[in-house]
Amino acid sequence: MWFFSLILNMVKATPDGYNARGQTVTNMQLRGANGPDISVVSVGIFTTLLAFITLYVASRSVDPGMGFHAGLLSAGFVLGTLALVFWYAGRDDEQVFDPTKYEDGIVKAGVFASMFWGIAGLLVGVIIALQLTYPNLFYFDQWGFTNFGRLRPLHTSAVIFAFGGNVLISSSFYVVQRTCRTRLAGGAWPWFVFWGYQLFIVIAATGYLMGITQSKEYAEPEWYADLWLTIVWVGYLFVFLGTIWKRKEPHIYVANWFYLSFIVTIAMLHIVNNLTLPVSLFGSKSYIAMAGVQDALTQWWYGHNAVGFFLTTGFLAIMYYFIPKRVNRPVYSYRLSIVHFWSLIFIYIWAGPHHLHYTALPQWAQTLGMTFSLMLWMPSWGGMINGLMTLSGAWDKLRTDPVVRMMVLSLAFYGMSTFEGPLMSVRAVNSLSHYTEWGIGHVHSGALGWVGFISFGALYCMTQYLWKRPRMYSIAMVEWHFWAATLGIVLYITSMWVAGIMEGLMWRSYNEFGFLEYSFVETVEAKHIAYIIRSLGGVLYLGGAIVMAYNLWRTARGDTRLSELSDAERAELLSNEPVTTRAPAQPAE
Ligand code: HEM
Repeated sequence: MWFFSLILNMVKATPDGYNARGQTVTNMQLRGANGPDISVVSVGIFTTLLAFITLYVASRSVDPGMGFHAGLLSAGFVLGTLALVFWYAGRDDEQVFDPTKYEDGIVKAGVFASMFWGIAGLLVGVIIALQLTYPNLFYFDQWGFTNFGRLRPLHTSAVIFAFGGNVLISSSFYVVQRTCRTRLAGGAWPWFVFWGYQLFIVIAATGYLMGITQSKEYAEPEWYADLWLTIVWVGYLFVFLGTIWKRKEPHIYVANWFYLSFIVTIAMLHIVNNLTLPVSLFGSKSYIAMAGVQDALTQWWYGHNAVGFFLTTGFLAIMYYFIPKRVNRPVYSYRLSIVHFWSLIFIYIWAGPHHLHYTALPQWAQTLGMTFSLMLWMPSWGGMINGLMTLSGAWDKLRTDPVVRMMVLSLAFYGMSTFEGPLMSVRAVNSLSHYTEWGIGHVHSGALGWVGFISFGALYCMTQYLWKRPRMYSIAMVEWHFWAATLGIVLYITSMWVAGIMEGLMWRSYNEFGFLEYSFVETVEAKHIAYIIRSLGGVLYLGGAIVMAYNLWRTARGDTRLSELSDAERAELLSNEPVTTRAPAQPAE
């Protein structure tokens, strides 16, 4: 503490300004004699300590993967600490974390990070789709990291945790401040959460490429990455809870309940599913504490609730804030939203065993999973209807605002995949659908349609509101994005449904002698055309996201696409700023 304050003071010891009498003073003096901010000091001490620990581990590592990752973590901590010190020293405002203002810098950074990781994850999705379609063209035996087995978890983690996670973290920080009417709690700690999460993503992603994995779906990162994520996540929980704690609005808006359930449950799932024993503290390999069917059950308790609490409740929070905001209407039924919340979180947690039908798991547990999955249909549709009906009295916005259309379509996909999910969890249906492309079609109608579209809607809204722009740079580009992505989804999911049901039926067909009618490779060959269509769908979806990123960037810069304005609007805009096409900033939201 003392040491870190000393460093801060040394950096600050340069003259930074003048007081009322014209004498030169340091930033510290300008800010008053309160000493350095406690959150800056605590983050600084923590990251400095971690830098030393990881450096030590790097120096004693027993395998190259650990050496690389410990070095990377150490470099990240050193850079983070230096950035913090210099940033803090360079500030001359009286209160660095002004409680009368929202902390929006972090949300803006989150919008950038979401778009960046989103495009990276979708690109890898397209690459692996092409690998399945043309295995000879996209197989490079000299480069192990391009192998499907390594790129597939890279794709799933990039889209779920990197893209989805950044959307959730940034939108939760945006929403909790506005609905609690207070600045984020924790001073520098929210930034620790943001950068700590990016560091986790880099460790996980490079680990997949190097072949470091504990082979648990959606929980592939090894023990040290899990440990780091736990620290970051606990920080996130404290920042979120702290903000709710110091709220100026007595009521806790329902979106915050959904966000909180996402943060708390993911912490619980992550810790339990990743209980491992490292072989060495200086090596990357570890063994899971559970074994056999217990491990399988824990894994799918985690896996399904990752869908429920990462890909559902968090994004429902987005729905409950951004749809009413965008259409300027109250939530259709606030009471229904509360019933929706409690029933959803109570039922979801039991549904995991539906991933383990016809396995060594006791049948009663399979039946329990199936029953709760069927029950889930009700709260899911209750929520969807609540979101849709919020548009009552504002349906015309579907025609005029493509961002609203995107969010409404996301609800339609939410309804569709939450109908399909319970159906697939029925044992008899599952005996056909499991292990087939039907599962992939189901996942992507939820992922591309629900998660993707509601996230895009939130990102469009946040960019416009945060940078205080009266409109997007180009509404036509939002339209293009909407149609390209919708067509992409339709191609993706219909091709996978057809392929899945076809291969399921082929696998179970027998000839008159009781032998299997088709060999496995025949079923793979039969899917080729569906794989081509899926790849095309993926390219369209990725293309739409690239158009979106360009549109967001131009909007943030304050540009307006003049050709989309009427003559009068153009004349008004140009009369404000004769030379550039920059749009005037709007008054604070
Ligand atoms: C350009 C868009 C996308 C393309 C082309 C794509 C492609 C793929 C491919 C080829 C697979 C592997 C399928 C297999 O192993 O047979 C896959 C798996 C998966 N993808 Fe995507 N994907 C895209 C977007 C997304 C998004 C946005 C999400 C989530 C937000 C997502 C989540 C997943 C998940 C969870 C799996 C694993 C499914 C399972 O194991 O059942 N994908 N994707």
